[in-house]
Amino acid sequence: MTNNPSENHYKNIANIYDNLWSYSPEYIKFTTQKIIEHLHLTPTDILVDLGCGTGIYSKEIINQIQLQQPIICVDPSAEMLEKIPANSRLNPVEMDGVKFSQKPGIYNKIFLKEAIHYIEEKFLLFQNLWQRLTPGGIFLLLLLPPTIEYPLFAKALELYEKKQPHYQELINLLQQVDFIVDVDIIEYPLELPKSQYFEMVENRYMFFLSEFNDTELAAGLKEMEDKYQDKSVLKFSDRMVFITATKPEYR
Ligand SMILES: C[S@@+](CC[C@H](N)C(=O)[O-])C[C@H]1O[C@@H](n2cnc3c(N)ncnc32)[C@H](O)[C@@H]1O
Repeated sequence: MTNNPSENHYKNIANIYDNLWSYSPEYIKFTTQKIIEHLHLTPTDILVDLGCGTGIYSKEIINQIQLQQPIICVDPSAEMLEKIPANSRLNPVEMDGVKFSQKPGIYNKIFLKEAIHYIEEKFLLFQNLWQRLTPGGIFLLLLLPPTIEYPLFAKALELYEKKQPHYQELINLLQQVDFIVDVDIIEYPLELPKSQYFEMVENRYMFFLSEFNDTELAAGLKEMEDKYQDKSVLKFSDRMVFITATKPEYR
């Protein structure tokens, strides 16, 4: 991997990635339950976590369900994959998602969470995933909605809205491949100390924040400081779009 723009970002952030979200083990448990439900995951399924990062969700899946086969955790970032503990129930694979989708292999369930914005060849990926799935198999795509209510500075929210793929476009592509598609938007109320959220922003915890230089980021943080000066805790909602793409049984 030499030309993936996210590569440096995750190289830099790998060491702190889990800490950024560890403020809320409940959030991870809740989201994982929803992933298991939407995938209709059963112990005999062969599962792939595409763009798995540090494996936060795969680690929690194996806490919640006893899978007979290890989860195949695919990510192009060696630094992110290194954070997955040596565990016979998780099988890390250092590879780009599209390349993985082209390799022979048959799986019952595949999920991809918050990584689709890195993949340019989305239609090709979806076509390949169709080939990788058993009849009745499910591909679950999770991404943030077109607008977010995070307590970020205005320019950051604007840039996010410009860059984030719209889930309806992804649904259209999946339907063109012949998947049966369902969509669900799941909301989770978050509450965290202001200092912690500010630290996350300072660390550019979301990839698009890397597009602001140090001066711009400092100005953004100052704007946030002014806006939330009388708050010590920030409350906001996280909304996640769950797109369930099922390969029909008849194929
Ligand atoms: C925001 S993180 C999400 C990680 C994990 N899915 C989670 O929800 O915690 C995005 C991940 O996508 C990975 N990524 C970037 N480009 C990718 C590609 N072409 N194929 C697969 N994964 C990719 C990054 O290395 C990073 O680990």
